[in-house]
Amino acid sequence: MENNMRPADMKRINTPELAMAFIDEQVKAVREQVGGKKVLLALSGGVDSSVVAALLIRAIGKQLVCVHVNHGLMRKGESEQVVEVFRNQMDANLIYVDVTDRFLDLLAGVDEPERKRKIIGGEFIKVFEEEARKLEGIDFLAQGTIYPDILESDGVKAHHNVGGLPDDFKFELVEPVRLLFKDEVRCVGHALGLPGSMVERQPFPGPGLGVRCLGAITRDRLAALRESDAILREEFDAAGLADQVWQFFTVVPDFRSTGVRDGKRAFDWPVIIRAVNTVDAMTATVPEIDWAVLQKITGRILAEVPRVCRVLYDLTPKPVGTIEWE
Ligand code: XMP
Repeated sequence: MENNMRPADMKRINTPELAMAFIDEQVKAVREQVGGKKVLLALSGGVDSSVVAALLIRAIGKQLVCVHVNHGLMRKGESEQVVEVFRNQMDANLIYVDVTDRFLDLLAGVDEPERKRKIIGGEFIKVFEEEARKLEGIDFLAQGTIYPDILESDGVKAHHNVGGLPDDFKFELVEPVRLLFKDEVRCVGHALGLPGSMVERQPFPGPGLGVRCLGAITRDRLAALRESDAILREEFDAAGLADQVWQFFTVVPDFRSTGVRDGKRAFDWPVIIRAVNTVDAMTATVPEIDWAVLQKITGRILAEVPRVCRVLYDLTPKPVGTIEWE
């Protein structure tokens, strides 16, 4: 536990120079810890696992084996970016598994939010374990545990899921950013040359789009969710809002409403825009977004996303409404 506590004299890593010094130190420490052995990492493409991957690639190159599980509930372009950055640009040893059909088949007809979460988390561990068992000679498991995980939840990275591996399948852990706060992890990520869009990424729930496609997930509503979310991100980026608003996304509920399209009556889904500012996600406020930006997003979603006939902006602060819808 001792080396899981931040030393009182540890400097806050907030400059490229301090980040480089941290990287050098960790590269040495990781090489010492793992020697010539292999290390496995579940690489979601989130900030923490991406920074750990880039750091370990620098330290041990192809001794690191990354597994990216695409469960079909990623945002648009995210899995593709993981492959592009880590396999194509950093030449990482990356195993990419597309298990979209497996997840969507399992989730078909399941409308209870906690069951959806359990299925997604449980199946993720299964897929990761299956992939890991195919590999030989793995001795270490790398994790993107960060300091708040240690302070808040006994060192268990809840959304990393791999904490739930079976007892006969446990490895020694490699957790090079475990003493860092989120802003420091980002600073290290920039110094490692990761793309800004990856390092500054907003929080994204482990169950991904699964908790934003309300009720029982269907492929067509999931597609509407992914496309509308991508439009929202593009327009928030273009309006300079992406780094001013803490978290923003769309939600597609499982009911329809009437509309008129091409002179004919339509009966299609609404898309709800959710945007919040918060410090710790315990309470949140809703930012006042320029009307013209909201209108542009609305126009684009209605024109570009099939089967959507209404767009709403959620004005509810937390409390009473949670940030996610389920
Ligand atoms: P709520 O909806 O509880 O969300 O106000 C607070 C923050 O937590 C994120 N969130 C999750 N993250 N797994 C995660 O890893 C989950 O099941 C989950 N549910 C909510 C949410 O996106 C927000 O940032």
